Amino acid sequence: MHTLHVDLGDRGYPVYIGRDLLADMSLLAQHVTGSQVVIVSNETVAPLYLEKVKAALGPRKLVTEIILPDGEQYKTLETLSTIFDRVMVDKHDRTTTFVAVGGGVVGDITGFAAACYQRGVNFIQIPTTLLAQVDSSVGGKTAVNHPLGKNMIGAFYQPRAVLIDISTLQTLPPRELSAGLAEVIKYGLISDEPFYRWLQQHMAQLLAKEEAILAEAIERSCSIKARVVALDEREGGIRAILNLGHTFGHAIETGQGYGQWLHGEAVATGMLLALELSASRGWIATSEVDGYRDLLLRMNLPVHIPQDMDAEAFLALMSRDKKVIDGQLRLVLVKSIGDACIVDDATERELCDVLQRAASSA
Ligand code: NAD
Ligand code: GLY
Repeated sequence: MHTLHVDLGDRGYPVYIGRDLLADMSLLAQHVTGSQVVIVSNETVAPLYLEKVKAALGPRKLVTEIILPDGEQYKTLETLSTIFDRVMVDKHDRTTTFVAVGGGVVGDITGFAAACYQRGVNFIQIPTTLLAQVDSSVGGKTAVNHPLGKNMIGAFYQPRAVLIDISTLQTLPPRELSAGLAEVIKYGLISDEPFYRWLQQHMAQLLAKEEAILAEAIERSCSIKARVVALDEREGGIRAILNLGHTFGHAIETGQGYGQWLHGEAVATGMLLALELSASRGWIATSEVDGYRDLLLRMNLPVHIPQDMDAEAFLALMSRDKKVIDGQLRLVLVKSIGDACIVDDATERELCDVLQRAASSA
């Protein structure tokens, strides 16, 4: 097992990464401070891992299991409300611990519930998708979607521990694995060129779920994420680089209807657009864009924007992005591979050119 630390003073926490961690009878239990626990999972993940998590918690006086329907379309205020209904009926007090067992949807919604219930209760993340293991479980962003925008209602609320059992990835469908790998590649593109080259070389082993290679990719990703979060927890500046491709990606997710494109798929295509824009500014060679596109094709990730979304549709949706300040869109681009920057001078013409090229190549 490898342990990283998210350095946030008295709100800092460990990120445990290893195989079969759920079989360890002390790891999870030590972070549950009281005798009450709320386990939130979904109807796909619960049959696979709920019993293991319950065993790893040890005996508790009150355990409430909340099994949500599966899907991004359920990451809503209505679902959040059903969580509060159950914990109120079961009379959980402020010493309770919320444990999220699942992908980013379960993690984000459970974290937000933990942030709100009695103004904040203990919270532990057990991410079971690659995307959640390398991104959403670390860093304390929690949220639900609004029909007009992704993750628009939420809070920064850090977990007390993150337990990444990489053995859970063995049951993950290939499409979800690739979506998670898109976020792994993001870390290489924004801040670690050698990692990006390593990913290009090891993609076949990652797609084959070779555990040692997966573990290395997860550790390297989480350590970059932990470093950036420690520098800028509430995204006043540098943390925004973690959103490479997300402004375009969120537009695709919202425009297509939540759950149609996977988050990682939308981010993968969004990063392609961001690289195209970076290349059009002369910052990276077009061969780098081609290399990235090839990588997406090897991973079965989309390289074209949705056919029914034109530049106008993108611009309308992107104008609601959380990085818009006073009407000015801020975008993450790359100055070179491994060196992201935030720009606030992208013109409508520039964006339209990239989007129209992407639309005409579809
Ligand atoms: P997800 O939570 O929908 O999980 C993907 C699918 O995999 C679901 O059907 C789930 O039931 C299933 N699944 C989960 N674990 C499994 C396992 N071990 N075996 C088999 N099936 C399994 O999607 P995701 O990609 O994990 O997360 C996407 C969400 O995360 C989006 O809502 C996105 O906005 C959010 N996100 C948040 C942050 C953050 O910083 N908080 C960062 C990135 C993404
Ligand atoms: N996923 C982007 C962030 O955590 O800031």
